[in-house]
Parts: sequence; structure tokens; C-alpha cells
Amino acid sequence: MPEPKRLTPEMLVPRMGEYLVQKGHITEENLQQALDYQQEETSKGNTVLLGQALIDLKFLDRSDLDQAVTEQIIHLRSALQAANRNLERRVEERTAELQKALERVSELSQLKANFISNISHELRTPLTHIKGYIELLITESLGSITEEQRHALSVSQQSSNRLEGLIEDLIMVSLASRGELSMQQNDVDIRRLANLAVKSHADAALARGVSLHAVVDENVPLVQADSQKIAWVLGQLIDNGIKFTSSGGSVVVSVKCEGENLVIISVTDTGIGIPADHLDDIFEPFHQLDGSTTRKYGGTGLGLSLVRQIVEAHGSMLEVQSTIGRGSTFKFPLLSVPGVR
Ligand SMILES: Nc1ncnc2c1ncn2[C@@H]1O[C@H](COP(=O)(O)OP(=O)(O)O)[C@@H](O)[C@H]1O
Ligand SMILES: [Mg+2]
Repeated sequence: MPEPKRLTPEMLVPRMGEYLVQKGHITEENLQQALDYQQEETSKGNTVLLGQALIDLKFLDRSDLDQAVTEQIIHLRSALQAANRNLERRVEERTAELQKALERVSELSQLKANFISNISHELRTPLTHIKGYIELLITESLGSITEEQRHALSVSQQSSNRLEGLIEDLIMVSLASRGELSMQQNDVDIRRLANLAVKSHADAALARGVSLHAVVDENVPLVQADSQKIAWVLGQLIDNGIKFTSSGGSVVVSVKCEGENLVIISVTDTGIGIPADHLDDIFEPFHQLDGSTTRKYGGTGLGLSLVRQIVEAHGSMLEVQSTIGRGSTFKFPLLSVPGVR
């Protein structure tokens, strides 16, 4: 919609000549003659202001002119003030409109996030039942089973674990999108977290023929971190490491002290590597370098975007080093708890 035409301060203040006529200082005829005179002089190359022309032609006293000029200045000033007030009011109106639009948008995104979060929790409950019964069956608590049945159950168990992981990711995403990725910082035994993360991925690594182990400094102090979220981060990095490394390769989780008060956590693999010009892309939500429909590696492309958010919410920074065909390292420092070893 085009802006409607508006009164400008100049439009609100009559021009000098008209003003003098209005005030009865000169007549229309005087004005016309003075304008003609002014034009004549201009054509001779002399610049003559209208007021001067009126004085030259003896239609007006200098004192009347001065008076009129002063009045016009006052006039113009109040017109400008009025215009400013108008402008301020319009800015206020627009700001209020924008504020409303913003509220609407955040309402919608809140609804979306609630939806994701509800769905995630709804998915979790039935899955817990499925996992529970598989566990009972596989441990023969409900009667003995054949080898074939055991195999079928073990595949189901792996799949339901995988599904559970995906639901956890989805919940993490929904929390992040609601800006609720709040950190519960505690004194955390990072060595234990690293060892646990390695242990829980041992089966996956074995299945892929990738060796997975932790290298942990002896004297690593406690760190300040949200242990659940850092555990999740480690899980994601290890999962990627295993996924993007082919059989015979390795994934190493390392925990090392650096300087007085830093602990460096890194996950290094000997996998496919990441092209240098894609090192930023991998942190975009849903971005996967293998965009093909064959989907060789699986996954949702959400892991790293959240990993980075979580690391940064710790006031830290996630760093990647990678060489195509040789492997990748993801690492980040955490602050140690002062005085505790
Ligand atoms: N260790 C790695 N080696 C090679 N590529 C990786 C590695 N980690 C991540 N990537 C690339 O970054 C993309 C995004 O990773 P991520 O966000 O964890 O999503 P997902 O694992 O679900 O694909 C991956 O699809 C892959 O292309
Ligand atoms: Mg991943």
C-alpha cells in the first residue's frame, strides 16, 4: 500500500509573498510587480530576494519585512514541532503493531514446540512398555525361547533402543526451540561420563567393526557442567564417529587436563572426514552432507546443531578438525571446579 500524501511543515507555512498579502502589508498587484522585477533582475544576473524587491519598489518598509520574517520563522518552528509530534505518534503506532505481530509469532512457535514436546512424551510411554516386555521375553522371565526367537527379540530390542534415542533427540530439540535448554550446572565427574558413554555405545561399535575406547587422564578434576546434557553430547559425537567410520577404524574419546583449570573433551574418529567448505554446514539443523535419498548413514541431522548449542550454553566452544578420508575430531573445553580433584 503506498503511503498516503501527508502535510509537510513547508505546506503548512504560506510562502513569504502570500503571507505579506494576507497580512495586508502589500497588495496582490504589488506582489506580482515585485515578482516581475525579481525575474527581470535575475535575467540580468542579479539575485534579488523577494523582500528586497518589495523594499526596492517601495511597497514595503524594512521593519515590516523584518517583522514578517520573524513571524514566519515562529510559524515554521511550530509547524516543525507539530510534525515531530505526528512522527512520534506514528512511530509509536507502528511499534505497537510490530509488537503485536511479534507476540503472535512467538505464540505460534510456542504452540509448535508444545506440540513436539507432547508428541515426544506420548511416544515415550508406549515405547517403555515395548522395551519392558522385550526385556522380560529375552531374559526368559515369561518362559523359555528358541534361538530364533532370541534373535528376533534382540533385533527388536536394538530397534526400540534406537527409537528411544530418536525420541530423546526430539525432546531435546523441542526444549531448545522453546528456549528451555537451561543448564543445571553441577560438579561433574567427566571421566565417569566418558567411560559410561563409551560403554553404552560398545555394541553399536562392535556391530560396525569399529574399535571404541576412552583415553582419560588420571588426575582429571571435576568439571562444571550439566551432566545429563554433556552425556547426551558425548553420545551424539560417539554415535557420529561410529556411523561415519568404516569397519576396521577407530573412535577415541579423550579427556585431558589443560593448564590450570580446563578439561578438554574430544571425540576422534578415523572415518570419512568432512570437506573443509562444509565444516559450518554440519551445524545447521537437519543438515546432512549425504543428502542422497539412499540415506546410507541414517539420522536426522539434528545432533550437531544441538551439540553446539549445549556446548555454547556452557560458555564453551565446539571445535572441529577434519581431513577427508582420514577422520575428524570434535572437541570442547569445560571449566574445572576450583580446588576439587
Ligand atoms: N564424525 C563425522 N565424520 C564425518 N561426517 C560427520 C561426522 N559427524 C557429523 N558429520 C556430518 O554432519 C552431518 C550432521 O551430523 P548430525 O547433526 O549429528 O546429524 P546426523 O548424525 O543425524 O546425520 C552428518 O549427516 C554428516 O554428514
Ligand atoms: Mg548425529
